[in-house]
Amino acid sequence: MDVYGIIGWPVAHSLSPAMHNAAFKALGQEAVYGKFPVAPERLSAAVEGLRALGIKGVSVTIPHKEAVRSLLQDIHQEAQEIGAVNTILNDNGRLVGFNTDWQGALRALEEQISLKGKEAVVLGAGGAARAVVYALKKAGALVCIYNRTFTKAQELALTFGAKAFAWEALSEARGHILINTTSVGLKEDRSPAPAQILSRFQVVMDIVYTPLETRLLREAKAQGCKTISGLKMLVYQAVEQFYLWRGLRPEARLLEEAALAALTKEERHAEQRN
Ligand code: ATR
Repeated sequence: MDVYGIIGWPVAHSLSPAMHNAAFKALGQEAVYGKFPVAPERLSAAVEGLRALGIKGVSVTIPHKEAVRSLLQDIHQEAQEIGAVNTILNDNGRLVGFNTDWQGALRALEEQISLKGKEAVVLGAGGAARAVVYALKKAGALVCIYNRTFTKAQELALTFGAKAFAWEALSEARGHILINTTSVGLKEDRSPAPAQILSRFQVVMDIVYTPLETRLLREAKAQGCKTISGLKMLVYQAVEQFYLWRGLRPEARLLEEAALAALTKEERHAEQRN
């Protein structure tokens, strides 16, 4: 039985175990995926533990995506350029880092709109923004980054060849695609963008997936935009992760259903606690 898992802090609410275990089962794989909560000061020991225990691969989530890089033997070029690793493959004791987040973002967007030559407005300049901006640039889009802390928008824009704008200028923003990569709207009914600008965009994507329909997406839909939920990026990055580990691509629908079922179960438990 091959063992996989997720390292992060916290990982209790991760949907990755549900997705990967469903895929292992459906594709007849002798493998299991668990949750490994790893506090930041234990990261190095945990990574050594992967090698010692022969764990075949892990997903890496907040807050380890950047720090884990220095603990690996090799880092795939795309992960190097993004500056973050979300997937580790244990290749006979050699730990190799990859990034599949950008692939998740790319597929989620490209199934709604062709990106080449399109203008994309990205809200936020944190870790998640890096993978999204990388995907957009790779697909040939023109990218404008708006961030509350302007200097961070400038740094990101410089790294990837995008333009930086002040958060206050968001009311003037326009383009084909708007993507939220900030945490605004996560478990709260708040939108990062003024509703009146949304009709200027064809497609609006949120990387937040709790709730599944954020206020941003609800308001965008009401303005006639196509909307993409954060769950799509999560599912598609997991498909690529699975492929790196097992050499097979599971059906995205299978993973999505497993993630949705886990989310619903989570919500029911939360209601019982309240
Ligand atoms: P992640 O890795 O999930 O992207 P992060 O690196 O902490 O997390 O980035 C969070 C992003 O959300 C940042 O762009 C942050 O803006 P700042 O750079 O100004 O901190 C943005 N963000 C968080 N809360 C916000 C808020 N209330 N309004 C606007 N932007 C916010």
